[in-house]
Amino acid sequence: MEPLYEGKAKRLYATDDPNVLRMEYKDEATAFNALKKAEFANKGRLNTAITLAIYRMLEARGVETHLVDKVDDINLLVKKVDILLVEVIVRNFAAGSFCKRVGVEEGTQFKQPIVEFSYKSDEYGDPLINEDYAREMGLATPEECAELKRKALVVNEVMVDFFQRCGLKLVDFKIEFGRTKDDEAKIVLADEISPDTCRLWDLETGKKLDKDRFRQDLGDVMEAYEEVLKRVEKELS
Ligand code: C5P
Repeated sequence: MEPLYEGKAKRLYATDDPNVLRMEYKDEATAFNALKKAEFANKGRLNTAITLAIYRMLEARGVETHLVDKVDDINLLVKKVDILLVEVIVRNFAAGSFCKRVGVEEGTQFKQPIVEFSYKSDEYGDPLINEDYAREMGLATPEECAELKRKALVVNEVMVDFFQRCGLKLVDFKIEFGRTKDDEAKIVLADEISPDTCRLWDLETGKKLDKDRFRQDLGDVMEAYEEVLKRVEKELS
């Protein structure tokens, strides 16, 4: 079956239900806007399991997501939504592009979380934008931007606490949102939440257990993802 859409890490397929899609997680990994590519056996399975567990945990705490059900080890059923082209990044500690942009030392803790918006565009490399850009580019209204920020901060609060119980520091993460088709007014969490999209450091040793192991050639990439899944499942059991 031909996918309706193929992204860097996932494929989307139609199902018998016009309001539901099947999301398949691939083993491919990309970094630096796909300048760096590799394939890791089991990555699809690990990110499917981690996203599923985190989404269920968030749903139980009142955060609405696009998740419908699990199909198998690498496939989830999700509500068909229009993905907003505004990615939301929340940072609790300085890392990655934040350090590069402003020269603050990696690991510096913020007094309050920083919320950033970026334009979801492979062509332009997901550049940093703000509410005014989003409004003028027709990506999201000011009210929607405020809603995205509010929802992202709730997700952050829940996840900081959850990952802490897993012995992990939630340094930062990126999330995406979609507008549901059935009720245009509703904006729900969509896409994935995994070590591909979060920075997670071991609380005791500071070891990086996320995609930075791939970006920075630190090795043991899938071992780190396995460790995250093990801790998440233990905490939820
Ligand atoms: O690279 P940067 O520091 O801006 O990334 C912040 C967070 O957002 C990191 O957890 C990173 O994995 C995630 N991210 C992502 N997809 C992007 C850009 C960043 O998942 N396109």
